[in-house]
Parts: sequence; structure tokens; C-alpha cells
Amino acid sequence: MKTEVDLLIVHAGQLLTLAGPNDRPRTGTALGDLAIISDGAVAAADGVIVAVGPTVQVRDEVTPGPGGEVIDAGGRAVVPGFVDPHTHLIFAGSRAEEFEMRLGGATYQQISHAGGGILSTMRATRAAGEDELLDLGRQRLDRLLAHGTTTVEAKSGYGLTVDDELKCLRAAHRLSAAHDVDLIPTFLGAHAVPPEHGHDPDAYVRLVVEEMLPAVADEDLAEFCDVFCEAGAFTPEQSRAVLEAGLGAGLDPKIHADELSDLGGAALAADLEAVSADHLLCASDNGLQAMADAGTMAVLLPGTALFLGLPYARARRMVDLGVPVALGTDFNPGTSPTWSMPMIIALACLGMRLTPAEAITAATINAAHAVAMAEEVGSLEPGKAADAVVLDLTDYRHLPMHFGVNPVHTVVKRGQLVYQAGRGLRRPA
Ligand code: NIG
Ligand code: FE
Repeated sequence: MKTEVDLLIVHAGQLLTLAGPNDRPRTGTALGDLAIISDGAVAAADGVIVAVGPTVQVRDEVTPGPGGEVIDAGGRAVVPGFVDPHTHLIFAGSRAEEFEMRLGGATYQQISHAGGGILSTMRATRAAGEDELLDLGRQRLDRLLAHGTTTVEAKSGYGLTVDDELKCLRAAHRLSAAHDVDLIPTFLGAHAVPPEHGHDPDAYVRLVVEEMLPAVADEDLAEFCDVFCEAGAFTPEQSRAVLEAGLGAGLDPKIHADELSDLGGAALAADLEAVSADHLLCASDNGLQAMADAGTMAVLLPGTALFLGLPYARARRMVDLGVPVALGTDFNPGTSPTWSMPMIIALACLGMRLTPAEAITAATINAAHAVAMAEEVGSLEPGKAADAVVLDLTDYRHLPMHFGVNPVHTVVKRGQLVYQAGRGLRRPA
């Protein structure tokens, strides 16, 4: 008797399963091992993968049940749904004027010091209601999904009052419940010091620690606690205080580390055994070595380097040192307004010299580790969520080669066909 399934993908010319140990991120040479099956197939029941293998073999084991979906990939490459482990999804307003100012020569830091930057988005976000933020988030999430992303981390950080931070996290929760894509919320109350505390940043840190964190934990609104550890934002001491308080409230630490300057954020992340240290454009060798020793994930965000015109993070050095690396968009209004993980994979290859295989590992299974979801997503293996993307490409190496276009043909989330190129998103009836 064959097992009845409700989703069957067949004839993937290259089925990139990313099968391998899920208890730790891939590092070193394992980063380049995609565990490819030629003419592969994936079958799923109730949203969970039940069989993976060559098409002839899987066809032997399973049969589509009534109403079951069969997707013939027609020789195209199939990859696990992308995991975007770093976004600032929830905000209102636009920074188009600042973009033009930067093109005219102003730096990101100059604009921030003049009250623009994060604070300009904060003003628009404070003025927006929860429903408006939900709606804006939905439009963005639709675009991420159309680019093959099926799991997304989403930070608060543009409210910067107790009520406005809660409003943003509540919007993220409602969005996750209403959308095919799964959101993993992160509390980033320590994103910038808001103007009402400009004269006393430590008082704002106390507000984050003593009022915001308990309120976030009380409503169970976030998985992680993040801090922007940077000159002009929060010092390493303040960052440590926030992240230790986060740990006390049950939120695992993440850090915006060494993005625009080297404050020792990488070493701080290693010391706190953070889930990840993100950005790392300016991280020192000592910092990277500390991360390698602690096994701390580096979340690399090459869209930010491109958009700000900065040198890319030293990804090859990190891989050589044995640091696990993941990739994300950093989707946000000021430093990386892209929703395309395929574009990020291209930048990782073209700007940071990762191989196409390393970049795909970093955007799937390692990105899943960066949000503590590797047991559930990030590879195509029995027992995992059936999140898969059919690329309109026959060779996965074409993905970063054809940069700047959307290579996605079909997206499946938890066994449901949710997007098809040319037909758009399929909404539940
Ligand atoms: O990840 N670095 C801090 N946060 C964002 C930028 C946010 C903004 O400019 O609005 C980042 O680059
Ligand atoms: Fe960020």
C-alpha cells in the first residue's frame, strides 16, 4: 500500500535537500554540501515532509490523495524555502528623501545625527495605528514570499515607547497568524535612543529593561531580544545590560554588532552565547575568533553594505575561521529596503565571494539556525515543514548569476501551493 499524500513535487532536475545534521549549523566545507538529488521528488502530508528521494523511488512509496497537489518541476532546481533571519518588517513611512541626500554625499550617520534615520521612521511608526502597521507588513510579506521566503524574523524597534513597541510586536503576531509566511518576532527596543531621552540614554536603557522587557515577556510577544550596539546608539555596556535582562525575561540574545564601527560587538555576542551576531562589517579578527570559539552564528546582510556603499563583511575569513554564517535581507526603510533573498544570495557571491552552494546553505538551513528553527525548516527532510521553492532555473548556480531578477517559479509553504509566477499569491478561500 502506498502512503497517501497531499503534496507531491516531482522531476526536480536538482533537488537541493540540504540534508545533514540539524543539531548544529553548517561550517567550513560542510557549508558547500547541498545534498543534491538528481530528478528528485518531495512528498508531504498535513504540511510535513514524508518522503524525499529520486522521483521513481518516491512515486513508488506514495500516491496523491483526493485533491492532492502534484507539481511537476519539469527539470527545474528545487530548494528549501528561504529563511530570512533579520528584518525590520514593521514600520510606517518612507526614507526616500534621505536616500537622495545620501546619493548627494551625506552619510547615514550624518543624517541620523540630524534627527533623521531610525528616528524619522520612529515618528511615522508612532503616528501609525496597529491595523495600519499590520497592513503595511502584509504587503511586504507578500513580496518576500513571492521571492521565495517562507520564514521571516521580524524586529520591533521603531516605536521606542512601551506602548509603541508593544503595538509593533502585536501587529507582527497578528500578521503571522493571518499570513502563509511564519514570522519570528524579536524585541529591539534598544534600536535608538528616542529624543525624549536624548539627554539621558541610561534612563532609556532603564525603561527598556524595567518596563518594556517585562511587558513584552508578559504578553509572550517575542522570541529574541536584540540591541543596536553602535556609536550613537548603545554602548557595549548598555547592550550587555539589555541582553542580560532579556535573557532573564526568557528572550535569547541577538546583536547588531560592528556594523558601522568596531565596538567589540562580535566578542560581546560570543561572551553572551548569543544566538547570532549580525552585520559584522567592521568586526576584528579577535572578535571573529571569539565567535568561532563560541560557535556564534554570523548573520551577514550584504544588502546593507551595497545600499550604504560600505565594504562587505569578511565572509571568507569567517568561513575559514569556522564561524557559522547565515544570510538575511535586513529589510528596513533606511539601510536595506530589499525583500529579495535571491538578490542577497547574489550579493553574497559577488560581493563576499561565497560560492553559490555556501550562499544557499547560509540562506536556508543556517538561517534557520539563526532563528532557532532548524528542527522545523531550512532543509527538505522527512519530518520537516514542506516549505519549498521551485526555481525557474535548471542549475542552482544560475541563481546568483542572473542577479537582480526574481528566479522564483513556485512556492510551497507547509505543503500548500502559495505562489506561482505569473499567477501571483494564492490566498486561502
Ligand atoms: O540593521 N542598524 C540598525 N538598524 C538597521 C537600520 C535601521 C534604519 O536605518 O532604519 C540596520 O541596518
Ligand atoms: Fe538590522
